[in-house]
Amino acid sequence: MELPANKRILSGMRSSNPRLHIGNYEGALRNWVDLQNQGYDMYCMVADLHALTTMYEEPGEVSRNAREVAKDYIAAGIDPAKSAVFVQSHVREHSELHLLFSMMTPLGWLERVPTYKEKQEDLGAAEREPYGLLGYPVLQTVDILLYKPYGVPVGRDQAPHLEIGNDIALRFNRLYGKDVFTPYKYMIPEDESRAKVPGLDMRKMSKSYDNCIYLSDTEDQTAARIKSAFTTPTKIKKDDPGVPEGCAVCQYLRLYSKDWETQWDEDRQGLRGCMQNKKELTEALNEYLRPMRERRAALDDATIEDILRDGAARATERAAATMAEVRDAMGMF
Ligand code: TRP
Repeated sequence: MELPANKRILSGMRSSNPRLHIGNYEGALRNWVDLQNQGYDMYCMVADLHALTTMYEEPGEVSRNAREVAKDYIAAGIDPAKSAVFVQSHVREHSELHLLFSMMTPLGWLERVPTYKEKQEDLGAAEREPYGLLGYPVLQTVDILLYKPYGVPVGRDQAPHLEIGNDIALRFNRLYGKDVFTPYKYMIPEDESRAKVPGLDMRKMSKSYDNCIYLSDTEDQTAARIKSAFTTPTKIKKDDPGVPEGCAVCQYLRLYSKDWETQWDEDRQGLRGCMQNKKELTEALNEYLRPMRERRAALDDATIEDILRDGAARATERAAATMAEVRDAMGMF
């Protein structure tokens, strides 16, 4: 496939947790690695400022998490020689443009964002809800527009944020009479079975449900997690028929085992038990994760600091160029 003239791609994940899980990988990271390997010019950001919207009481933890998330990017196959891997707060232009965009973004656009409403409920008391949370999509818009990317690969849940971003881009151009920003594409994975990996209990995979398989788990930890996974509740004996559509182990087999069609058939017919499924899944998944574990093991703390310093320098170069155009369009000198 031919690449567009502008090959830049920006994406990011929040550093609210130190570890990424296979849902993060299948839903987003895997797509980034593919794009990098197709020759796109990737900017892979760790959104520590976004994590502060809910973790402002633990900024040190957010920063430490950011290093771990960056390690997971690299373990997953992001090559820091090809792609810029950086921490959002290390590139000060994000904070500067966020302030300018916050002056020209209508409040109504932000109050309508569904994720804002959800987060508000998570945090409980309105007293504790920070001002910055409302501006979450404005900051995300800044993250994107500073790099003037061709596209932004994200999971489907991020679509509302991306829409506001293109609206802000057009509003800026109109207000200040210059086409500084060009709308970007949303690059949402088409393969739904990969985009939505269920948790071990078949709910959404999430740290708060303790139902995750982490990329950085050891082989033994992965084996133990799979042992605890939810299977067909009515399949008690080995020869009871299973319903693979509702069984977490079968869902993962579909992603990680090349023999999944036979495994599903046999499960349905009661020709195999859940123990056998779990054993075969453990082998397949551990094999899949092995190269990631090896890359992670080779990364020490000093190396990751070097990578992030270099990534921030590369990102700053682009971000500063855009910032200069923004100030010029606004007539600020
Ligand atoms: N909001 C995204 C998430 O929750 C993280 C993010 C921050 C992001 N800035 C971004 C994603 C810019 C894509 C582009 O995962």
